[in-house]
Amino acid sequence: MDARATSPIPVASRIGGFVYAIRNIVTEARKVEAAGRRVRYLNIGDPITFGFETPQHLIEAVDRAIRAGQNGYAPSVGILAAREAVAAECDRRGMPVSPDRVVITSGTSEGIELALTALAEAGDEVLIPVPTYPLYTAVLAKIGARAVFYRTDPDRGWMPDLEHVRSLITPATRALVVIDPNNPTGATYPVEIRRALVELADRHNFPLLADEVYADLAFDGPVPAIAAGYPDAPVISFSSLSKAYLAPGWRAGWMAVSSTPRLDDALGAIKKLADGRLCATGPMEHAITAALNGDRSHQVAFRAALQARAELTTQRLNAIDGIKVVAPTAAFYVMPQVTLPPGKTDADYVLGLLRATGVLCVYGSGFGTKPEDGFFRIVFLASPEDLSSIYDDIAEFTRTFLRNA
Ligand SMILES: Cc1ncc(COP(=O)(O)O)c(C=O)c1O
Repeated sequence: MDARATSPIPVASRIGGFVYAIRNIVTEARKVEAAGRRVRYLNIGDPITFGFETPQHLIEAVDRAIRAGQNGYAPSVGILAAREAVAAECDRRGMPVSPDRVVITSGTSEGIELALTALAEAGDEVLIPVPTYPLYTAVLAKIGARAVFYRTDPDRGWMPDLEHVRSLITPATRALVVIDPNNPTGATYPVEIRRALVELADRHNFPLLADEVYADLAFDGPVPAIAAGYPDAPVISFSSLSKAYLAPGWRAGWMAVSSTPRLDDALGAIKKLADGRLCATGPMEHAITAALNGDRSHQVAFRAALQARAELTTQRLNAIDGIKVVAPTAAFYVMPQVTLPPGKTDADYVLGLLRATGVLCVYGSGFGTKPEDGFFRIVFLASPEDLSSIYDDIAEFTRTFLRNA
């Protein structure tokens, strides 16, 4: 046989840059499980796995749609009723758009991928916060564009460093990504920071990509759209049913392109790309309509549950010698920092914690922070009792790790 016929089939080099630590780290957890230790997964922000439940009226909307035979391809931009519901929601949040500037997507994730693919050539630059949600860097690696990281500062409540953002803008800048409320830091940005970011995008004529998937999960109540008050600014907003409507597996999301004619070509390009993937998940689009037009009382209880967990988390982690954490104000993430001994990395700490206790977090370098800075991310969706015992284990492990270093 020809020797070539037995050699590994090559994969594209772009895969080398496609890294998604939140799921990649599970390989390590499986090894720990195979060795007989129970793993407590604090790596993925999925409320369902921690016992939170999808609201019944959304399940009924999908059930009704399926039984009524709504099982064919939907329009590639999404069904009109869902787009109208998204447009009305954007309007309520201060970003008026018509339904023809809304595209229904397979989660926020697909919207992000469509927008970046439509906007950035290979070699172009996109401003991304650090720490970041890793999908941004992964998609940019795939399309060959460059992620240019702007700092968010833990010493100032994880606020974006506006001077740093300004200093990074070049003629090759194609978009500015803002995640507010933020994963992985749990921060929400005050109006002055939001205003400065929108004005920068507006003045330099590139879109602000507003990741607003946690907008309803700020502990003080839903936050307005980042574009609110700036009807002529170029903003593309993304969200989904995944978090605030407790249906991440449905892959039901949307994007809304602000009304400025400057974004008409981008909207056209996004719709062209959307045609190529036929449609988002059809029956779930009916749940978008039900969610945005319907009862949201589940969010009150969900926010209260998250706030209680956030307070417990902040208090317990800050009480551990060698760890400090900024109190989150939204969502279900924190980004603590452990003071690492010289020569150690965030991965040494996180993998050590996993092997010693079965507690799985994600190292900060998976979100773009420096390995020696010692950041790691915790998803605090587990029950307060489970979290409390997890924080006992983290405290014990950290003592040993720092003592033996
Ligand atoms: C900031 C951020 N953006 C996007 C996503 C993806 O969400 P979706 O399930 O809507 O694709 C997540 C998921 O964790 C996220 O944290």
